[in-house]
Amino acid sequence: MSNKKVFSTSEGCPVSEPFATQRIGQDGPLLLQDFSLIDSLAHFDRERIPERVVHAKGSGAYGYFEVTDDISDMCSAAFLNQVGKKTKTFVRFSTVGGEKGSADTARDPRGFAVKFYTEEGNYDLVMNNTPVFFIRDPSKFPHFIHTQKRNPETNLKDPDMFWDYLTSNQEAIHQVCILFSDRGTPYGYRFMHGYSGHTYKWTNAKGEWRYVQIHFKCDQGIKTFNNEQAGDLAGSDPDFAQHDLFNAIKKGDNPSWTVYVQSMTQEEAAKLPFSVFDLTKVWPQSQFPLRRFGKFVLNENPQNYFAEVEQAAFSPSHTVPGIEASADPVLQSRLFSYPDTHRHRLGVNYNQIPVNCPFAARSAYAPHIRDGAMQVNGNLGSAPNYLATNVPVEVRSDVKLQAHQEVWTGPAFAKHWKVVGPIDFQQATDLYAKVMSKQPGQQKALAHNVAVHASGAKRDIQDRVIDMFTKVHPNLGADIKKEIYQLDPRDSDKNVQLFNKNGKVSACPFHSKL
Ligand code: HEM
Repeated sequence: MSNKKVFSTSEGCPVSEPFATQRIGQDGPLLLQDFSLIDSLAHFDRERIPERVVHAKGSGAYGYFEVTDDISDMCSAAFLNQVGKKTKTFVRFSTVGGEKGSADTARDPRGFAVKFYTEEGNYDLVMNNTPVFFIRDPSKFPHFIHTQKRNPETNLKDPDMFWDYLTSNQEAIHQVCILFSDRGTPYGYRFMHGYSGHTYKWTNAKGEWRYVQIHFKCDQGIKTFNNEQAGDLAGSDPDFAQHDLFNAIKKGDNPSWTVYVQSMTQEEAAKLPFSVFDLTKVWPQSQFPLRRFGKFVLNENPQNYFAEVEQAAFSPSHTVPGIEASADPVLQSRLFSYPDTHRHRLGVNYNQIPVNCPFAARSAYAPHIRDGAMQVNGNLGSAPNYLATNVPVEVRSDVKLQAHQEVWTGPAFAKHWKVVGPIDFQQATDLYAKVMSKQPGQQKALAHNVAVHASGAKRDIQDRVIDMFTKVHPNLGADIKKEIYQLDPRDSDKNVQLFNKNGKVSACPFHSKL
């Protein structure tokens, strides 16, 4: 018997003619009995699964997280309980708005999702490379995302939709200023930070708790493309970030991040000029300094992209004792949305796919989670399918819902945070005037990047864009106005109008009579 693999059907039956189909005679019809052909075509027909509705294009890698500094006074999570302790991790980086085949250098936030395979179950930190986000009310998410995708009529990315939404929902301004700086076009995935963005809660062994935000600071330093470099690469090398990450790890140039926590007590939170749950705001580091506690290193490429990267399933609801979601409404909604989309995208047993399996939680036992499509791990064999009294099971009474921590009262209400005021512009102004002023060329880059994009929008929307950025800083508004007027002179005809004057979809060049 040779050691060579034998070419077979998916059932293991050896196939004698890999590249020929059974048929009658030389030119006659095919035979339905040729299982090898049916097997192959039927499987091929089903190769694609739904791509992620957002963050469809991405790259992944394995690595580890190491505790570098004692943090036990703040958090009781088992994987953080000892300096030097290492936990295996898997990361998936991504762009947000484009499809699975879109360019890696698109102007977009970058996803930075980390799975920690801890002994108390998988902990997912599903972050972006920006410390803030566009929305603070989750009802806006589908609207907002749709405006970053394709126009339903033209199937084109649409600057009218993009800027119509952003100028009508100006709480996004801080994130928009980051997105349109060169940080919006990072040099691959190795040269950017990661931020929890949301407020989470950490509890220590004594039951004391704090609000926290997590920062992954890139040890490689920040490196970005400018607008034109990113645009050129989108054409010449659309998978730039994938091969940059893969090749670096392959040659042992392992990227790493130093991990910090920012924390705040409930009393401190009450004194903030904004809500601690407002995802459009950063916590000033002068008041809430970063405290280092870990190192995150990537050192292993996946063997199979589909199995490990495409099928990876992260969720902010995958957490461990000691770490909880705060009442941030966007975060609370995400707790629902991710496992919901995984069940749709991967199936109800998505946690059995090896990359998602909580393999380090060796004593974990969930006898009631049984059956379902693609049950492949033995289904707990003959064990009872409920929490039976005849199976000795430990129920960890030390893992409590922290009922005392936050107590909420008040009438049901659906208008919070609707109003956008000067406070929502303050941090964007500080970013422009105090931070970008120290980064040579960044103020001008922000103006240029906005102008190039917004000059494609209708004139009245361009005016709204100019007004909005003027509220950030008059110089920024003036620079944007000047360049938009150069790129789209007001005395010229604009020949493509995607919406008619009533705002109804109609006046696309192909349907101008509608
Ligand atoms: C992916 C929903 C806000 C970071 C996704 C996916 C959904 C989703 C449905 C696809 C997941 C999959 O198919 O596996 C939402 C909703 C949000 C929200 C409903 C707000 C209401 C955010 C925020 C962040 C974020 C604020 C970052 C702070 C990510 C990342 C991924 C992702 C990194 C990609 C995960 C991966 O690589 O598989 N989101 N999202 N999202 N989201 Fe969100």
